[in-house]
Amino acid sequence: MSEFDHAPHTYLLTRTDTEAQRLDRLYGAWQANIKYLLHPAITVHDHACIADIGTGTASVIWLRDLSREVPSSCQPHGFDISAAMFPDRQILPPNVTLFEQDMLQPFPEQFLGHYDVVHVRLMIVALSSDHWAMGVQNLMTLLRPGGWLQWEDCAGHEATVHEPSSHEHRSKNARLYLDLFRKTAIDCGKKPKIAELMKIFQRSGLVTCQEHIHPLLEPEAREDLNFAVLEGVQNTLIAAFDSGHRKWIEAKADIAGARRAAETDLQQYHCWFTYNVHVVIGMSPP
Ligand SMILES: C[S@@+](CC[C@H](N)C(=O)[O-])C[C@H]1O[C@@H](n2cnc3c(N)ncnc32)[C@H](O)[C@@H]1O
Repeated sequence: MSEFDHAPHTYLLTRTDTEAQRLDRLYGAWQANIKYLLHPAITVHDHACIADIGTGTASVIWLRDLSREVPSSCQPHGFDISAAMFPDRQILPPNVTLFEQDMLQPFPEQFLGHYDVVHVRLMIVALSSDHWAMGVQNLMTLLRPGGWLQWEDCAGHEATVHEPSSHEHRSKNARLYLDLFRKTAIDCGKKPKIAELMKIFQRSGLVTCQEHIHPLLEPEAREDLNFAVLEGVQNTLIAAFDSGHRKWIEAKADIAGARRAAETDLQQYHCWFTYNVHVVIGMSPP
């Protein structure tokens, strides 16, 4: 698989096997910190219908893990705008089905009002700033009365480098790498609305909304998180450069150079990337 989607307002990452592996490691790092698949306020009955949006590949793992936790009579469905990272049918549990679907476009009739739970994860480089509210409203059409929407995302733009006190203020290149990501993503219209997501839920008419913030601190997940950030920032910068957003990057080779310098800092000063994951839940009025 090898594909770039250059449209600036749709997706700013690659859809390659390497990206699939990165998403899987990132999934592990998030789960090591969040420790639940569905927020404990969300209870699932024996025949619950569950949709995972922007399922990619890692959330197919989310779907796979979830399908082990819920009764086998539940029906997990995954939706993604592209099938490029869908795994082989035979590695999916038999009750899991995957569909190609843009979350910003009306869903086919058969899915409307069908789901007890709709789950979304990690759309910060997929959605433009003005798409978050539209996305919530469109996903609400999938919920049954009393059904839950759960969205986990991060303010990748607020990622920081954690340095041990013995190496304070030394990891200059790692911080510059994050700055480059922040500026480039914003230049491409990807300023995440995560801080406003709960308000968007409430304004859209969801009730019993809650927000839980999980800082990514687990030592066992640091290596995976460092890898996922190094690789994810690089892929985003390459996709931005290829689609003509070159304000902050003069030559493509500079991207690999910036990554190498950041990686050297992480190793030399024993530091690690970290950011907060927000989990927002809300219920369709019963
Ligand atoms: C960063 S990946 C996250 C994948 C997965 N949710 C995870 O947590 O690893 C974003 C995914 O959203 C998909 N995507 C992007 N825009 C989308 C849209 N408008 N509707 C549905 N899926 C979309 C991409 O194809 C990609 O698989």
